[in-house]
Amino acid sequence: MSEPLSGSFFDAWDTYQKVVAGDYMFHREIGVEMNRVLRARFDARSFSFLDLGCGDAAALAPLLEGLPIQRYKGVDLSETALALAAENLKALPCPVELTHAHILAGLTGDVFYDVIYSSFALHHLPTAQKAEFFQRAAQRLHKGGLLLLVDVLREEDETLEVYHKRYCGWLRSNFSALNGDEKDLICDHIDNDLPEPRSVLEAQAQAAGPGITLHSARYGWHWLLCFTPAQNDDAGAGGTISE
Ligand SMILES: C[S@@+](CC[C@H](N)C(=O)[O-])C[C@H]1O[C@@H](n2cnc3c(N)ncnc32)[C@H](O)[C@@H]1O
Repeated sequence: MSEPLSGSFFDAWDTYQKVVAGDYMFHREIGVEMNRVLRARFDARSFSFLDLGCGDAAALAPLLEGLPIQRYKGVDLSETALALAAENLKALPCPVELTHAHILAGLTGDVFYDVIYSSFALHHLPTAQKAEFFQRAAQRLHKGGLLLLVDVLREEDETLEVYHKRYCGWLRSNFSALNGDEKDLICDHIDNDLPEPRSVLEAQAQAAGPGITLHSARYGWHWLLCFTPAQNDDAGAGGTISE
């Protein structure tokens, strides 16, 4: 598997931190929705949480506050991001494990999770690897678990080329806290992004098992999709390993 971003844009965390602080990718709004979904599902029981492409976990950490999280594992290809995540997740009242690995490698082994989450990372994978992601995630979810996917999606009739052009045009007009060099850096990075239309991800999820879309919210190209397995009378319900 390639390591497309290691040592590149996402080691320039100060630029990404400005993007998050400016809420240009709607982390705040998506976080409110996600917190609502997690509270509705896990208010009365504790849950394990796998975060694939966790980055510095800065936007996620406050969302988990006050929730009955039992265990957190973060996976990322950037060592810089993982070091920042270790700091940002210090206040979590549960064991925290951070692993330097590819998203798909984070879905191997025999450990099950109540929540598998990936935020603004899946669009780095080619289409076939996204299908693999859904298949592996379906196998690693506990019964009643959730697959929470936050990502950029392109419109059904939008080619990748048109998407790249429109997104860069939009960010150049809207990401006002960033200077020209920072905008250039992000646009160069976005040229490698591979967002899918929603229908592709839903078809992959259906084929793999997570099946039902419980909830979705969108802010321009930025989406939250919540999947739950249609029938996982799983291995995960009986001989489960939650660590
Ligand atoms: C835009 S950042 C998102 C960080 C955080 N999840 C968020 O929502 O703010 C994308 C992250 O995915 C990581 N990443 C990209 N491709 C990856 C891969 N194939 N395996 C693991 N991590 C990956 C990058 O290193 C980066 O930390």
